[in-house]
Amino acid sequence: MKKLSLVLAATVVCAPLWMSSAHAQFAKPEDAIKYRQSALSMLGTHMSRLQPVLKGQVAFDAAAVKANVAVIQTLSTLPWTAFATGTQGSSAAKPEIWSDAAGFKAAQQKFEATVVQLSAAADSGDLNKLRSAAGDVGASCKACHDSYRAKR
Ligand code: HEC
Repeated sequence: MKKLSLVLAATVVCAPLWMSSAHAQFAKPEDAIKYRQSALSMLGTHMSRLQPVLKGQVAFDAAAVKANVAVIQTLSTLPWTAFATGTQGSSAAKPEIWSDAAGFKAAQQKFEATVVQLSAAADSGDLNKLRSAAGDVGASCKACHDSYRAKR
């Protein structure tokens, strides 16, 4: 029993260290690229699902919107650790992601802040607030793409 709790304690202590290293999370650069592209692709899918609501083409189902925005919020945090050094490969990631790491980080943070606002707007159930917040999210996607995503 004592042995088991020691093992558990070691796991708890080591996990954050291991998690903090993006290199340790992915065996190969291609794995990191696939991971971030998958998350970003799903982010695109879930943002698109808001469009018919924003355009008034379907009824505003507040519960469905909230559930979709919760997925967007989770996805919004996922891609970034997968932009580890040495993972540019043949992806659409521009070299500026690593040469201007502070700028890339700021773009992520700005984006994540707009998603927090989107979540608050979804909770409010107010379609106009949702439209405005979704516009801000879209603008922050574009701002990052303009600087850090290669056109292909
Ligand atoms: C902080 C920067 C940043 C933000 C914010 C950002 N993206 Fe991207 N996005 C990128 C980069 C860089 C790539 C290229 C990734 C690669 O090829 O490895 C990318 C790629 C994509 C792709 C293509 C994924 C694929 O299948 O290869 C989609 C779709 C996408 N982003 C959608 C979005 C949407 C929608 C948002 C906002 C809701 C968003 N992104 C926010 C930087 C960002």
